[in-house]
Amino acid sequence: MIAHSFTLLLAATSALAGPLQRRADGLNTRAKNNGKLYFGTAVDSSGQSDSNYMNILSNSDDFGQITPANAMKWDTVERSRNSFNFGPGDAVANIAARNGQFLRCHALVWHSQLPSWVGSSGFNNATLIQVMKNHITQTVTHWKGKCGHWDVVNEALNEDGSYRSSPFYNVIGEAFLPIAFAAAAAADPDVKLYYNDYNIETPGAKASGAQRIVRLIKSYGVKIDGVGQQAHLIVGQSPSVATWTSNINAFTSLGVDVAITELDIRTKTPASSSAVAQQAIDYANSVKGCLSNTRCVGITIWDFTDKYSWIPSVFPGEGSALPWDSNLQKKQQVYNGILSGWGSGTPTATPTATPTATPTETPTSSPTSSSTTTPTATPTSSPGETVPKWQQCGGTGYEGPTQCVSGTTCTMLNQWYYQCL
Ligand code: G3I
Repeated sequence: MIAHSFTLLLAATSALAGPLQRRADGLNTRAKNNGKLYFGTAVDSSGQSDSNYMNILSNSDDFGQITPANAMKWDTVERSRNSFNFGPGDAVANIAARNGQFLRCHALVWHSQLPSWVGSSGFNNATLIQVMKNHITQTVTHWKGKCGHWDVVNEALNEDGSYRSSPFYNVIGEAFLPIAFAAAAAADPDVKLYYNDYNIETPGAKASGAQRIVRLIKSYGVKIDGVGQQAHLIVGQSPSVATWTSNINAFTSLGVDVAITELDIRTKTPASSSAVAQQAIDYANSVKGCLSNTRCVGITIWDFTDKYSWIPSVFPGEGSALPWDSNLQKKQQVYNGILSGWGSGTPTATPTATPTATPTETPTSSPTSSSTTTPTATPTSSPGETVPKWQQCGGTGYEGPTQCVSGTTCTMLNQWYYQCL
């Protein structure tokens, strides 16, 4: 416990000390000099045995923060009920501690990368709450003092802002959100708790849905510290600075921080020179958007190199989304785009390590629905939109597209969740 607290203290000290330290210029140095907590990157297990990769990752002038891309997800941490495996997550926590990098932890409650036993054991409301709380309590307690942020609930929304069908929502109802946040806060009162989702970087139904979640959690008397804007963007279709700014403001006006948590900007491969030029602008705009609001605490890119990016396997023919190429060479134009977004790097503000209230009340379970609905049988196909690999294509209550991208098949993982595999 003492060791844990000390590690976080070190990381926090390092994260907050930017303007006072002599550092070489870099993505993180610029972020800190502009009052942010960090600029960081995701890291997956594949990169950890690659020494060139690790050298770049460990340069805290560029990366002052890391997020495990997979190592702390439910299917790694608790593959079988009440049997916990913290090894892969510990490996990432150790890298962060070694490099003095801030650790964002990801993700406690998510419908994806969820072992099938959670959804297929016929748990009722009370039992599933117990299972979910146990997972959160054990996991948060294990990394207490090491995680600076936790993504408590990930991707609970459909594109229209309604709740996504998931074992948690289908059995517990929307109360699963405040219950999850309360359990995380009880396990570690100091860690900042985030709701995290994609396609909430521009105002619209889904961003409004995420704002509704913030209000819901607060209405239970439970703390939520921030909202993660994943920002899996597309070159030439990324938000303008004005859009970023007004959208971030809409979240922070609810009394929460914002973090850009999974930024990457993909294009057709091989990337044309005009696409690379536009990509540099799109990255700069994302940085400027965060810079426009002191409660946007930092930016994480979803790995720094195309070598280990998730994109080509999910969007065939697309990629080239990150500032280092697949040979681990820096793409100077894109890198400079990010630097230019931060501007000169003149210190402007103190980093916003927002203090938040201690939760005062434990939410009652108040289930709003039960899982008595009939599972959808084989998903029917809907013409038009195709579902990318690994995304949901069917299940109880699911109303989205069901036709999987070529090369994948819509496969039942449990009654609530069919996935293109
Ligand atoms: O570890 C196994 C390996 O043993 C096996 O040989 C290989 C065969 O395919 O699979 C490996 O696991 C893969 C894992 O990534 C590790 O790289 C999984 O199949 C694959 O599904 C998994 O993809 C991850 C994806 O989430 C799953 O939804 C990506 O790496 C990860 O970057 C991605 O991250 C998500 C965020 O958590 C949430 N937001 C969206 C983002 C991008 O999809």
